[in-house]
Amino acid sequence: MTIWLPELAEQRPIYKAIVSAMSRDIAEGRLGPGERLPPQRELAYQLGVTVGTVTRAYTEAERQGLVIGEVGRGTFVKRSSADAPLLAMPSEPQQASAGRAQGFIDLSANWPPEPPLAEEIGAVIQEECNRPGLGARLQYRRDLIGGEATRRAVASHLETEGLSADWREIALTNGAQHAIFVSLLATTRPDDIVLCEELTFFAIKSAARSLSLRLRGVAMDKWGLRPDALDAACRATQAKVLYSIPTLQNPTNRIMPTERRREIAEICRRHDVTIIEDSIYAFLLDEPPCPYANLAPERSIHVSSLSKSVAPNLRLGFLRAPSHLMEAVTFAVRSSSYCSPPFTHDVGQRLIESGVAARSAKAMREEARHRQEQARRYFPDAERPSGGTPLHLWLELPSPWRSGSFVHAAYRAGVGVADAEVFAIGREEVPHAVRICLAAARTREEMQNALGRLAALLPRGPEAGPGLPLM
Ligand SMILES: Cc1ncc(COP(=O)(O)O)c(C=O)c1O
Repeated sequence: MTIWLPELAEQRPIYKAIVSAMSRDIAEGRLGPGERLPPQRELAYQLGVTVGTVTRAYTEAERQGLVIGEVGRGTFVKRSSADAPLLAMPSEPQQASAGRAQGFIDLSANWPPEPPLAEEIGAVIQEECNRPGLGARLQYRRDLIGGEATRRAVASHLETEGLSADWREIALTNGAQHAIFVSLLATTRPDDIVLCEELTFFAIKSAARSLSLRLRGVAMDKWGLRPDALDAACRATQAKVLYSIPTLQNPTNRIMPTERRREIAEICRRHDVTIIEDSIYAFLLDEPPCPYANLAPERSIHVSSLSKSVAPNLRLGFLRAPSHLMEAVTFAVRSSSYCSPPFTHDVGQRLIESGVAARSAKAMREEARHRQEQARRYFPDAERPSGGTPLHLWLELPSPWRSGSFVHAAYRAGVGVADAEVFAIGREEVPHAVRICLAAARTREEMQNALGRLAALLPRGPEAGPGLPLM
């Protein structure tokens, strides 16, 4: 147990001086996240104050979000949100009792590796700054979804995903997530039902909530969405929009073959459903299957970005939509963000035209391959798609593990992983699985360190321990 003895300033009342000292010691690292504070009676004795004063200080510190009290267990320093796992965080009391393991490695969110071509990307940005006419290019622009040259460059880039698109059908957005939001805004009205895979990219849930849409999950098999389930869902709900990730589906990593896509496209045509295809991971395949936008161009919106293949912080996203939806798309871009930064449009165009984007995608693919090969040593039985190398592992847990108990045990071992629950739509049974984002580790060594800790947990099985209810 930490014996924390604060140095109190000449502040009155004393309980406030205790809170100030606590706040300072947390900020300066003398009190670490998850550390237990001394029992109130003991601290009162050490400081020569009444127990009531310490109780008041602890209550105030909890109110300010510095600490968290657990009945019967004590008071613990809270984890800061900056270093909390991005996804699937155990509950506060679990965190407090788990403490923060040394060298916490967060593999819960699907971050790509640090851009391997960072210097070349930087050089393109520099050139863009040095080009004549910077002042004019920093002015507002009229082409809110991108200028012709940029949209032409994006259309040519999308050929690498197997898509043939006319530049007039392209719109630029703030990343793929914004492209999804814009697509929903352009094709739905409040209260509409939107269909999606039963486990899916969690951001669709927040987008749907913001737009007052109702999501319905559609059952999957090892190839992704099941056509019979989709047909039944269309009949039952009269939904007019489907959001789907047919290529390296997030989180299951499934790749839907072209034949299945044809069937899905046909069902959507029959029920007059617009397909929003999220193709952000297609660059990880040497030969991506045919996109829906080639199979049913009149009803497909194709969404992608340079986030995973080049650099997420550029926020360079785009979509291809049929011409009859372009006005609604433009209106949606305008009303949700005015436009994505035109300066980055210019940078994106140069990245594509100079070949940096393609070389970066290749380097990312190679890094993903390396990491998957290393991961195979730790988890030889994890499901792996053939034909593509994903950035993450979808690990079905052996009995008797459940996803929640594994996430908690992993947290205690100092590794953040994402619970299958995070991706679930509705209240159907969720697989006992976790998503482990290999590329989120800063280095291969760090990834191996984390995977070693996780693999060691598997044979042990969940155990009763701190953080679990006593009865
Ligand atoms: C399936 C999927 N779509 C979209 C996104 C968001 O991409 P962006 O960073 O370009 O908004 C992610 C990010 O993890 C994703 O996994």
